[in-house]
Amino acid sequence: MKIDGKHYRTIWLAEDGWSVEIIDQTRLPHEFVIARLETTEDAAHAIKSMQVRGAPLIGATAAYGLCLAIRKDPSDDGIESAAEFLAAQRPTAINLRWALDEMRAALRNIPYEARIKTAYERAARLCEEDVETNREIGERGLGLIRDVWEQNEGCRVNILTHCNAGWLACVDWGTATSPIYQAHDSGIDVHVWVDETRPRNQGAALTAYELGAHGVPHTIIVDNAGGHLMQHGQVDLCFVGTDRTAANGDVCNKIGTYLKALAAHDNNVPFYVTLPFSTIDWSVDNGFDIPIEERGQEEVLEMRGRLDDGSVHDFCIASPGSPAGNYAFDVTPARLVTGLVTERGIAEASVEGLQKLYPEHAAHE
Ligand code: MRU
Repeated sequence: MKIDGKHYRTIWLAEDGWSVEIIDQTRLPHEFVIARLETTEDAAHAIKSMQVRGAPLIGATAAYGLCLAIRKDPSDDGIESAAEFLAAQRPTAINLRWALDEMRAALRNIPYEARIKTAYERAARLCEEDVETNREIGERGLGLIRDVWEQNEGCRVNILTHCNAGWLACVDWGTATSPIYQAHDSGIDVHVWVDETRPRNQGAALTAYELGAHGVPHTIIVDNAGGHLMQHGQVDLCFVGTDRTAANGDVCNKIGTYLKALAAHDNNVPFYVTLPFSTIDWSVDNGFDIPIEERGQEEVLEMRGRLDDGSVHDFCIASPGSPAGNYAFDVTPARLVTGLVTERGIAEASVEGLQKLYPEHAAHE
């Protein structure tokens, strides 16, 4: 997508052809900074510190992180320990492990001298596939928005989203935002309610930033406002992303997603989860077996902000000395999900619904 008229992806190879460049998301929305990754440790740090975040982008970064490792040590042991090191950086998004498994599979039985080339090719392809998959998710979701627009007789369609499942969370397009961009680009009047998404404010800082850069009308709301808006008919649809979806259609996503799904259910607002195939963990039968990341309490106790002079600071916002809990994700049970919008179509959130779309996984029961 575009920033100031220039097309960007979230990750790309630098001009030297081997190091990797990313948009440092810890600096947004105040500063647009490109960071360079030269080692596996740099890639691991980028994932852990959330310079890159969002399930698909974490996977893409890990894939390139493995390329950087292979430059130093292309042996089986070297690849294995680098993959395990990268996989350990964040526990919840399954795309991280999925991408590393894809890389390992591509490298199996490849002679040492060809491994660097093979690895970079697979990582590049993984990024291309992410872009195409998200474009397809957007096409599927666009149909849902178009239906509401027609029912509304051409009046504005209001969509609520949580966290950032936008292009900044992927290589391009985003999952939850892809239908929104496609609707906006095709002339449908869409407006997005952007949950600020405490504690790291991915909504206020990232989703609002990217929607604004693309010219999509949007309004930032506090995380607790969604239910009120739904009660007053101000939300036509919810679109969220997911970090891992279980085989039964339970959805793990950014903390607070569950409460939005409950409010949507109570108010008959359709609640759609957008996801690529790589976010489905067929080995997990239900969402409550998904590990939930717990992060440092400083993310709750402090907030980053910019002063009028342009300087960026972290501010203490809580009573000094009080401890904080920082659960990064929650699980929305399948019964609260209207549909899973994937690159293959819209699935019912159930074992049967997912297996119908992905029959190659039907053997797992
Ligand atoms: O902690 P984050 O910012 O990595 O969490 C991101 C989310 O929860 C997204 O909604 C999810 O990864 C889907 S991104 C297409």
